[in-house]
Amino acid sequence: MIKQKSIDSVMAAVRIEEVVGDFVSLRKQGQDFVGICPFHDDKNPSMHVSPRLGIYKCFVCDAAGNPVKFLMEHEKMSYPEAIEYLAKKYGIPLEYERTESDEERQQRTLRESLLIVNEFAQKYFMEQLRTTEEGKLMGMAYLKERGFMDATIDKFGLGYCPDGWDNFTKAALEKGYKEEYLIELGLTGKSQSGKLYDIYRGRVIFPIHNDAGKIIGFGGRILKKDGKDPRKYVNSRENTIYHKSDTLYGIYFAKNAIHKQQNVYLVEGYTDVISMHESGVENVVASSGTSLTQGQIRMITKRTQNITVLYDGDMAGIKASMRGIDMLLEQGLKIRVCLLPDGEDPDSFAKKHRDSELQEYLASESKDFLLFKADILSKEAGNDPIKRASMVNEILKSISCVKDNIERAFYVKECAKLFDLSENDLNLNLRRFVWEKTKEQGRVVQHQQQQVQQPSIIDGPVVVEEQGVPHLIDSTKHPELSQQTDLLYEAEKDLILLMLNYGNLVIYEASKNEEENSQGLRVDQYVCNEMQKEDIRFHYPLLEKIFDKYVDWASYIGNQDQIIRNFTLAEDPQISEFVIRNIPVEEPKFSNHWKDKYDIHTHTTRNNIRILQNQVQNIILTLKLRILENDATIIQKILDQEGLAEEDMMMALQQLNTLNQLKKEISKRLNRVVSR
Ligand code: GTP
Ligand code: MN
Repeated sequence: MIKQKSIDSVMAAVRIEEVVGDFVSLRKQGQDFVGICPFHDDKNPSMHVSPRLGIYKCFVCDAAGNPVKFLMEHEKMSYPEAIEYLAKKYGIPLEYERTESDEERQQRTLRESLLIVNEFAQKYFMEQLRTTEEGKLMGMAYLKERGFMDATIDKFGLGYCPDGWDNFTKAALEKGYKEEYLIELGLTGKSQSGKLYDIYRGRVIFPIHNDAGKIIGFGGRILKKDGKDPRKYVNSRENTIYHKSDTLYGIYFAKNAIHKQQNVYLVEGYTDVISMHESGVENVVASSGTSLTQGQIRMITKRTQNITVLYDGDMAGIKASMRGIDMLLEQGLKIRVCLLPDGEDPDSFAKKHRDSELQEYLASESKDFLLFKADILSKEAGNDPIKRASMVNEILKSISCVKDNIERAFYVKECAKLFDLSENDLNLNLRRFVWEKTKEQGRVVQHQQQQVQQPSIIDGPVVVEEQGVPHLIDSTKHPELSQQTDLLYEAEKDLILLMLNYGNLVIYEASKNEEENSQGLRVDQYVCNEMQKEDIRFHYPLLEKIFDKYVDWASYIGNQDQIIRNFTLAEDPQISEFVIRNIPVEEPKFSNHWKDKYDIHTHTTRNNIRILQNQVQNIILTLKLRILENDATIIQKILDQEGLAEEDMMMALQQLNTLNQLKKEISKRLNRVVSR
């Protein structure tokens, strides 16, 4: 864990325009910068970058955040990765918490050591491919024959392991890499007689990157078929850093394109991924010959909900992989399939056709998976009624995995046409499958619910007697009764935004008889006074947290923009998210420069102050009104309960009465403020 102190120093140094500017070309516009948003397809500069607030915001696609968020979203870094990246960029040394246990530290150092060995191995293999006679003659010649370009070989870091007994292992040991690591990584084997040998000897090497770009394993392809070794590929075996089930080949090179295209092509092999890249299709990953695992699916759903599976024309293969796809549907993924012409895989197809042809083929031949499956099964079942019935049920089971009702209805319609059955009949069976699924899920939910104690509707005394205060019950203590209407939320939010935007502006001048050094009353001070006087409290915990933080920061930070920057960089992502979403990027309408710019007694200044005073009054009164309304609904609910003691009922009625009077009064005052 990085120490908070270090994170703070990084945050103090980063400049949003420099971070975003490394990936997006920015143009100055007034105080801000604008550029083409990388998070959606755009031609106009819709992304605004505000050095004043330290944030970026796209006005079209809603992307917004601080520098860390930008790196996490754009570069798919984790939080610590982003901090480390920024620390490096700004030359700030990081300190780490010593909280990890010895075992954890050992594990981490082991992981790091293994990654370093892999990095060495990859460099070694690459050098062999590029500089040695054997590498050029065997490895490079093979890759060239298959039509791979130099730039691609470079990008994917392909290499070659010489065909001796232990060339690589010797080189690694000489460099000081431990034998046990080489063996753990599956780079080196040990014969019964204790001799070490190269596992990948005589093979072309495909490094396997994790999604942060670190090399976690290797695939090695044999060059000639005549050898004794029957394995076309040797792949890393499971070890501390390589977990096959959490690996997608190509993810590192595909992640940006996946995000941008909002679709990923799923292929089988290393060479398919590489060839598609060469044809300009970069949102492609390979499952490496197995059906997708939950871990791999998560890597995809993190970035997009749309998968297109590329099949070569072999029916047996298609049918085998179909079963795995229901699992994807259940995750809410939208699946399409694209069938390649008979005898072609993505690699061969890409090689035979022009880039544009491949791209057009993918676009025009991709079909909805369920319709595709129904079509294939329907053809296969022919006219055999029993076969047809079981096919229909299989399709319906798949359809029952689809979460969305409307989508389900659409599939039923299509299937009815395909199988020449009535929608009603299909729906009957479909409902059964859906029901069975729901029952299963229901059991899980029920089980979870038993763990939490359901709060009773009324906990303790509800009618709190307080004299003279505008609200008679403390509704913040009764969230279960409170309506917490959007109106109340909006009112609390308006107050927060008022503080953030204009908290430091003086709206009431110090009167003559006050002390000399008195600065007059600022918006935030005025609001705090009012809240105390009227006993106004927040109903929404997030807004309350923001308010408390504001009060804390405002007590020692003089610069309002700095306070907002603190918020946009807040540790609690809910807080930073709220502020980034809601703070306007434009300069505030009223500014702190009143006093410097204008004589306080000029017409404009006085006018501005009056407008702001009105706005403050308006916001506070509205909030009070919303709270009273909320309290009234709570009391109404209490009155609606059965078996309320007469005494309590009388008291509640009385309070409702008082509340209504107060509401009227505030409405009146509000009207006065608004019409002023
Ligand atoms: P080329 O035949 O060179 O085009 O390779 P490919 O990547 O297209 O391989 P293929 O389509 O035959 O197989 C798909 C994936 O399955 C490969 O990328 C490997 O990950 C895996 N695979 C194929 N053959 C073997 C093998 O013999 N052993 C192991 N462990 N994996 C294999
Ligand atoms: Mn192939």
